[in-house]
Amino acid sequence: MVNAIRLITSKRDGLALDREEIVGLIDAYTCGVVPDYQMSAFLMAAYLRGMNETETAALTESMLNSGATMGRQIDSKSRVDKHSTGGVGDKVSLIVAPTAAACGVCVPMITGRGLGHTGGTQDKLSAIPGFRTDLTTADCGSQLDRIGVVITAQTDEIAPADRRMYALRDVTVTVDFIPFIAASIMSKKLAEDIDGLVLDVKAGRGAFMATEDDARQLAKMLVSIGERFGTRTIAWMTRMDVPLGRAVGNWIEVVESVRCLQGDGESDVMEVSIRLAGEMIHLAGCATSAAQGRKMAQCAINSGTALQKFVEIVETQGGDARPLFQPPKMQAAAEVYAPASAQGYVSDIDALVVGLTACQMGVGRRVKEDEVDPMSGIILHKKPGEPVTGGCLLASLYTQHERQVRRFVAAIRNSYSFSASPPPWQPVIMDRLDRSGWLSSRIAS
Ligand code: URA
Repeated sequence: MVNAIRLITSKRDGLALDREEIVGLIDAYTCGVVPDYQMSAFLMAAYLRGMNETETAALTESMLNSGATMGRQIDSKSRVDKHSTGGVGDKVSLIVAPTAAACGVCVPMITGRGLGHTGGTQDKLSAIPGFRTDLTTADCGSQLDRIGVVITAQTDEIAPADRRMYALRDVTVTVDFIPFIAASIMSKKLAEDIDGLVLDVKAGRGAFMATEDDARQLAKMLVSIGERFGTRTIAWMTRMDVPLGRAVGNWIEVVESVRCLQGDGESDVMEVSIRLAGEMIHLAGCATSAAQGRKMAQCAINSGTALQKFVEIVETQGGDARPLFQPPKMQAAAEVYAPASAQGYVSDIDALVVGLTACQMGVGRRVKEDEVDPMSGIILHKKPGEPVTGGCLLASLYTQHERQVRRFVAAIRNSYSFSASPPPWQPVIMDRLDRSGWLSSRIAS
């Protein structure tokens, strides 16, 4: 019988717990023996005192084992998934999943709702009329056998302890703690019964990890947990200071993703997408190197097989693919123009301001019971490095909150900075981590 008071006391006093203690506590919480108020105290104690790698791995293990896994047949193809730690305009999963699947990778993707100012793949896909993300693990298994890819949401069956603890973290202000984030992400990903995982760890003001140091720490924790559980895990650290691509919203990001799959994507989105898809194709054993994987990914996009796979996913999961190719005309609630003083170039766009504004416009939720407005969002007509003149069109805003439109316009205008000469180029790809270390330190040595 677990002694919650003793474990909370140990954590409060800065002691490390062993695997059995963590597993015992989470098991007792999952079956209702430990109440929310004691778990809240434990969460805050751990948040303030820290958790080491063994404790984080035990937390992951107990959250994973609190529910079902997708299961698989012995002779099934190699399964590899991709996960992003969350950004603004991050539609990469919508591009990468069908692209890798078109190259022979089996992709079981459990996605989440938008979190804070960052968007969620589940909300984006739910903007497609009829698209279902509430598949059971049995549905997922049979779809994977049939078409080799599924993109669904976390259900009650998958890591229920994470679900309950996440809700508690939200109201006890203990979300932004690297061991909790790592265990929460990895418990869901490992429930997919995957052989490999490619992570996109975002760093910058539009990401949860605003500093490069924090992003590196999170990447290290994620890779170390994945490898501990026998899953080849690779993390790419990518820049999230400026929104990715031009659309920030749910439906409009789906439309932009289709354009990417038609070979007409923005360079930042395509760079991240091809990099991650190439890595997945290699990890799955469908290419002899990540470079060959990238070539295969580009070919799948050029030949249209990646787009065909996306349509197959949509139709298999009950969605109507027709509006993807004939998007309904949308009426902007407002347009944002550059101030008269703006001459030269866009030098910067603050992704955090764009993400927070989009969230208030209906793209995300203020409280977890809120419904998102699938058609709301922001289209950025100008991105850093592009020329501007005073009064030119910077962005279009789509929202039903008409009374607040002036505030949204001002926020988006203020998110832009301008300069007389082109700003220095900021590479979107920052570094890569696998079990042998960071790519940058291998290049340096
Ligand atoms: N995503 C998750 O799944 N969990 C977290 O805690 C943070 C991001």
